[in-house]
Amino acid sequence: MRDADPKPVRLTDYRPPDWLVDTVDLDVRLHPSVTTVIARLGMRPNPLGRHGSPIVLDGDELELKSITLNGTPLGGSAYAATPSSLTILAPPQAAVTLQIETVLDPSANTKLMGLYRSSGTYCTQCEAEGFRRITYFPDRPDVLAVYTTRIEAERDEAPVLLGNGNPVERGDVEGTTRHYAVWHDPWPKPCYLFALVGGRLDGISEPFVTATGKPVELGIYVEPGKADRASYAMDALKRSMRWDEEAFGCEYDLDVFNIVAVADFNMGAMENKGLNVFNDKYVLASPETATDTDYANIEAIIAHEYFHNWTGNRITCRDWFQLCLKEGLTVFRDQEFSSDQRSRPVKRIGDVRLLKSHQFAEDAGPLAHPVRPSTYREINNFYTATVYEKGAEVVRMLKTLLGEEGFRSGMDLYFDRHDGQAATVEDFLTCFSETNSVDLSQFALWYAQSGTPQVEVSGHWDADARSYRLDIRQTLPPTPGQPDKHAMLFPLALGLVGPDGKDMPLNPDDGTNTAGTVLLVSKPEQSFLFRDVPERPVPSINRGFSAPVKLNANLGTEDLTFLARHDSDPFNRFEAGQTLALHHLVSASGQSREGIRIDDPTALVEAMDASLNDASLDPAFVAQVLSVPSEGEVGREIGTDVDPDAIHAARRTLRHTLGEALRPTLERVYVQHAPTGTYSPDAISAGRRSLRNASLDLLACTGGEADIARALTHFETADNMTDRFFALSVLAHNAPDVREAALTAFHERFKDDPLVVDKWLALQAQIAEPGALDRVRELTRHPAFSMGNPNRVRALIGNFATANQTQFHRLDGAGHTFVADAVLELDSRNPQVAARLLGAFKSWRSLEPVRRASAERNLKRVADKRDLSPDVADIVARSLG
Ligand code: PHE
Ligand code: ZN
Repeated sequence: MRDADPKPVRLTDYRPPDWLVDTVDLDVRLHPSVTTVIARLGMRPNPLGRHGSPIVLDGDELELKSITLNGTPLGGSAYAATPSSLTILAPPQAAVTLQIETVLDPSANTKLMGLYRSSGTYCTQCEAEGFRRITYFPDRPDVLAVYTTRIEAERDEAPVLLGNGNPVERGDVEGTTRHYAVWHDPWPKPCYLFALVGGRLDGISEPFVTATGKPVELGIYVEPGKADRASYAMDALKRSMRWDEEAFGCEYDLDVFNIVAVADFNMGAMENKGLNVFNDKYVLASPETATDTDYANIEAIIAHEYFHNWTGNRITCRDWFQLCLKEGLTVFRDQEFSSDQRSRPVKRIGDVRLLKSHQFAEDAGPLAHPVRPSTYREINNFYTATVYEKGAEVVRMLKTLLGEEGFRSGMDLYFDRHDGQAATVEDFLTCFSETNSVDLSQFALWYAQSGTPQVEVSGHWDADARSYRLDIRQTLPPTPGQPDKHAMLFPLALGLVGPDGKDMPLNPDDGTNTAGTVLLVSKPEQSFLFRDVPERPVPSINRGFSAPVKLNANLGTEDLTFLARHDSDPFNRFEAGQTLALHHLVSASGQSREGIRIDDPTALVEAMDASLNDASLDPAFVAQVLSVPSEGEVGREIGTDVDPDAIHAARRTLRHTLGEALRPTLERVYVQHAPTGTYSPDAISAGRRSLRNASLDLLACTGGEADIARALTHFETADNMTDRFFALSVLAHNAPDVREAALTAFHERFKDDPLVVDKWLALQAQIAEPGALDRVRELTRHPAFSMGNPNRVRALIGNFATANQTQFHRLDGAGHTFVADAVLELDSRNPQVAARLLGAFKSWRSLEPVRRASAERNLKRVADKRDLSPDVADIVARSLG
């Protein structure tokens, strides 16, 4: 067991390792309950470390069998071993070979960290600190070694044996029923990138030739019988590889690249060198079982993990505080890839929606932390929206500030200078300041200061002087551990839209700090002056969401409606409608604060109608326009004493109103976008489906008989999962009378497919009615459900806690109690999944008093439990802190 209240790790305490590992030779003899690992480590003292120090290795639940140093067995007084560490007390201060034999039980590993079994397949997960569950090792990312791995298993049980790097040898173990394979990875890597897989798997393979003509064999391995569902992932992989060559000059560097899909996985996927391991949800797809969103996620995550080969693997992180160095940058890269493969504006809208719903919520609550935290108790809890999504926004701002070429020159230098190293955020930024000759010290605050900047803008047109002035004020609210903040530097993309709806030329006054149409904001208060502005413009601010800030542009209904119809920037055109809807929802939920009041939704209706009738617009974009801000976003706008029921009611009423008011247009759009030909997951076809389905949904929100009948027909006649599942959710949310029959029919049809059953579980968890909690409780006893599988837990309990605000935050507290109970039950089995689920309480302080008290009671109940995992202990302490 690990200490439940470990000392916090601090960035400022970083010291280089005392011992380095140059080579790792592993011999892993797989067995369901007694797997033997023999590790031969070629080590030497680090010239940068403390001379004369012992060799201290990390472990976690390990059992030591034997140990030799330079070939000689070590006596009991020469070392100290516990399940969580191994110390060689007085090693020679020279290169040594340490050989360690340990045993472990993969079948008993329910944490899914280290070596475990998923549906009988042996697989590993080592990030962040899982390698120490396989063998004793200096488990830190700045120890880079060359690995050779021999994997041995029963031939029947594990005919497929995969490792990092290139295959070098395979054969039978003579006189036994066992066989082996040897893999060698020539690229030095930290141990968190180690992986092996052994199992009975089906696979598909395809050749790829890199830009410089090197052949690579690509493989995707899945559970037997599912190989036909891996072809989209394979296609996405090939497109990712080509894109990285073209966009960043990054070429693949091994003879093989393998992906394995497993059913039990804590996260989305893992970028192990040459052997990515995936949650099968992000590999398997067929038109009958996967939605358009699933296809888009598969494409993005395949790309993400592949892109890590350079940003993460060839250049890794010095320590875990630098996590955003690989994650923020790689998310930025996968976003760019998807933007190039699909519609850039629609991708941007989706990314910003995700940022607001997850990251802004995190930044506004007790779990707020900087993109690069300065202290942690449990690193697993820092794989967050802040590190990933806000981290990507920071890289995006860097690109906006430096321009395409300036950004690329910095990236080129980064790849060149730090290849083979474990780097820091400072190393990264230095590359950009050098190639662009700029000082990025103020910009670097984005990595250090937590919280979402609030940006207040007001515009003043001077008719006589024919000038326009923008006054900008930025504030950064206090966050845990950071009461006072400094002003940030950020790019604010701007347009001044004239009365004809066209952008006016921008003539910044001398001394106004702009780069083209981008304002460089760096002071707490700053004004920008523009000359030759003959008419009153409407300002379009933060175009493309150029900075991840909470903007208040002080625009009235008329100006917002105007932007919603005319803004040449698609993001801000979308955003103007969202702001209209948000203001309306805040006042309609009866919780309006001063200044914001749009009681009458007519302007919103008209703006939506205009978009629906504008044939020049991309259907996928119009579908986004039709979808009003989430309950969570409305709650954050209200800020304090939030009543989820009032917000839900306001949102429901608004959607009903929209459905009625837009009826003729929606009915026409629904018919116009009927499917033509067979299903294809491409962005254009998906966009047509999304608009048609958004129309179906708004119409059904009215509860009209014909509208429900339309949804039922849509459900029954669908030839793909996108349409079938969308219609099912429309029915589940709007048609209590047909709901049960439709859910039963769906389950009957797909009951043998766990990933589809997850959709069925998730949907039921989201029904915003008082019966939802009983239904979810009942479903935890359904044979398809298991507390041992993270996907099942997230589908049912996770969705209840994060996507059903009224029922999770029930006034009687039963929703909170249920989720807290689930966290406690899960904690002994899988702490990472438990801790993530507990994160659903993160906005508890903004609730009205009764719900706030119930959340607090339940958090305290969790905190009081004995023997909490470090993961849950950390989240609960920070949540209450
Ligand atoms: N590094 C993985 C990714 O972002 C995420 C991950 C973290 C997976 C920890 C497993 C464990 O792609
Ligand atoms: Zn990643």
